Amino acid sequence: MSENLEDIAEAMMAPGQGILAADESTGTIKKRFDQIGVENTEDNRRDYREMLFRAETAMNECISGVILYDETIRQKAKDGTPLVDLIKAAGAVPGIKVDQGAKPLAGFEDEKVTEGLDGLRERLAEYYDLGARFAKWRGVITIGEAMPSSNCISANAHALARYAALCQEAGIVPIVEPEVLMDGAFSSHDIETCYEVTEWTLNTIFGELYQAGILLEGMILKPNMVIAGQKCPDQASAEEVAEMTVRCLKSTVPAAVGGIAFLSGGQSDVQATQNLSAMNAMGNLPWTLTFSYGRALQQAALKAWSGKDENWAAAQAAFEHRARMNGMAATGTWSKDLETA
Ligand code: 13P
Repeated sequence: MSENLEDIAEAMMAPGQGILAADESTGTIKKRFDQIGVENTEDNRRDYREMLFRAETAMNECISGVILYDETIRQKAKDGTPLVDLIKAAGAVPGIKVDQGAKPLAGFEDEKVTEGLDGLRERLAEYYDLGARFAKWRGVITIGEAMPSSNCISANAHALARYAALCQEAGIVPIVEPEVLMDGAFSSHDIETCYEVTEWTLNTIFGELYQAGILLEGMILKPNMVIAGQKCPDQASAEEVAEMTVRCLKSTVPAAVGGIAFLSGGQSDVQATQNLSAMNAMGNLPWTLTFSYGRALQQAALKAWSGKDENWAAAQAAFEHRARMNGMAATGTWSKDLETA
């Protein structure tokens, strides 16, 4: 594969494919394993991810990149093959989460700022040697009473821009991920509020990226969709979510950006697919719009696996189905009847 930033971004945006976010930290994967009663050991984490990366049809045909966690990028499959090599063999680009988590923003109770810039240059060089060609950093924006603050948006946007510059210096494509939360304690906002906050966030971020001299063609944006909070009684249709999301992105994201891959953020798996497909069905988009889902790609597979080797085939089939549905959504050709076909 070419090592040029634009070519890596293009490979990540391969038509009809998207990104598998498998970069849950050890604490986050514990929450997922708790749901299926599986102990959170290093071997179980390895077995689960090996099962996904060996799902050949899904990986070859629907997955263009995989985001890994620090532990996973160093792990070997049971037979000794590095997990990174399984990903490369499937024609997908290995990537790495490099942020060190969203921490309380001093002086702004309930808001967060993402840490991880100190020593990042050295960590990126090591991850490059381990095979990573793209990275991810997630900033978190919370909507609530007097939130977000301008300080929260600026601090996260600035960190994202510094991170993106270090990535590009290292020959690594940055995924810039500002997540305006739809779930959690403060999620009763409506879709219009999400629109306004997402617009504000993206405008601030692209200002910072410009000042940091980021090559837009060599980065991927990973935004939330414009969607009502989970606790809002008034939920929009897929067509409304699609229309408002595309309108918001068109008014804030330069056409030169290498591509856009959404997070699922707490949407159900079918909802995340349906909303993405509705956007691509609109057509006339300046960038490729695809998925970079964690929960929405893995939920069904995780449940089918339930920590047992004998469930591998069923879990891989569940993953393949979800990956295929999202691959179709990436071209706007998904429809509900395909879910049961
Ligand atoms: P979800 O799709 O579960 O939101 O996860 C994507 C991700 O990578 C969050 O950082």
